[in-house]
Amino acid sequence: MKGKHIILGISGGIAAYKSATLLRLFIKAGAEVQVVMTPAGKEFITPVTLSALSGKPVVSEFFTANSGEWHSHVDLGLWADAMVIAPATASTIAKMANGVADNMLVTTYLSAKAPVFVAPAMDLDMFAHPTTSRNLDLLRSYGNTIIEPASGELASHLIGKGRMEEPENIFKVLEAFFAKQEDLKGKKMLVTAGPTYEKIDPVRFIGNYSTGKMGYAIAEEAASRGAEVVLVSGPVDIMPRHPAIHLVKVESAREMLAACEEHFPTADYAVMCAAVADYAPADCAATKIKREGNEPPVIHLVKNPDIAKTLGMKKRDGQKMVGFALETDHEFDNAMSKLRSKNLDMIVLNSLRDKGAGFGTDTNKITIFTADGGETSFGLKSKREVAADIIDTLITL
Ligand code: PMT
Repeated sequence: MKGKHIILGISGGIAAYKSATLLRLFIKAGAEVQVVMTPAGKEFITPVTLSALSGKPVVSEFFTANSGEWHSHVDLGLWADAMVIAPATASTIAKMANGVADNMLVTTYLSAKAPVFVAPAMDLDMFAHPTTSRNLDLLRSYGNTIIEPASGELASHLIGKGRMEEPENIFKVLEAFFAKQEDLKGKKMLVTAGPTYEKIDPVRFIGNYSTGKMGYAIAEEAASRGAEVVLVSGPVDIMPRHPAIHLVKVESAREMLAACEEHFPTADYAVMCAAVADYAPADCAATKIKREGNEPPVIHLVKNPDIAKTLGMKKRDGQKMVGFALETDHEFDNAMSKLRSKNLDMIVLNSLRDKGAGFGTDTNKITIFTADGGETSFGLKSKREVAADIIDTLITL
């Protein structure tokens, strides 16, 4: 953690007194910490204590009242290697989930490029309320990590779930996160994402529902763990955020293959997450196919190249390849057959029979099969968490 930049966000809950311990643990481990408080947070713990412990003035307002100096949440957001909000009250969680940027903490959160960790703290009924659950799900779907509160006696003297996790345990989560950040350092990863479009005429194509969310999450996770990432992406509406991701935009399966063949030889890992069209029209009409006065056209299809299989056949010693299997039936058999026929080291099965899995969702539910016979099933998680599970398994191969 030495030299890492951490923003410690503190909102207005009794657990704010524990933030001083968390801050001290970060400082003792060699991190630089900038405390950002909500106005309510200051009612629970004084900024003087926190600035003395961090060695930096606490930021809470947009401007310093007497000098007019502007506190740039954008600069802070770029400075940070991680942002931790502890305690995160129901109100702060709701504002973060819905972009209500009316205080310095939430504006900083919205500007933060670094991973965000949220440690909720509130009364048991507030924590159990569907609004809070929905807001926490939203934060998870944005890739934030929720550090679950513990059960025990609360400030109200009621017993239940809502106590902020102990500072020592929050510290351990951050410690593990920073340790992981280095585990792909010096490695190059090729990732494919999104659909491919196969042109019928200048205005129509054959495509599928892939949004790129899963593949982009893998690229972001790998980059945040130190890898140099080449992301070969079909047409999607999202953009990578991490500066270590080199984006190569393609449209068709043939273009995707060409880009992959260029980058595969120097890659240590390749993760084939794209939903590649298996067939393309044999010809693309030069002008728009007209409806008036014509019978419905017959479109002859030809097989597209199998990108994963092509690369799998060229795999050199030490290279590891991951494929995906998107299935609607006979999941196990289909995944195993793709693992073998494409010469993969690992395959990630996601089934459209599982709610919240597959195309377009912010979540996924996967089973990983490895070529040496390993099989691990995971619960429904955000695509970023799924990406972490995939990479955790991949680096053990
Ligand atoms: O993008 P999202 O909306 O987030 O959705 C994510 C996803 C559902 C697209 C993703 O999780 C996923 O399952 N991707 C693979 C989809 C797919 O095409 O699966 P498949 O079973 O048809 O293909 C098997 C493997 O071969 C895949 O790794 C695929 O990238 C690869 N393939 C397939 C056909 C082809 N011509 N070339 C290939 O390389």
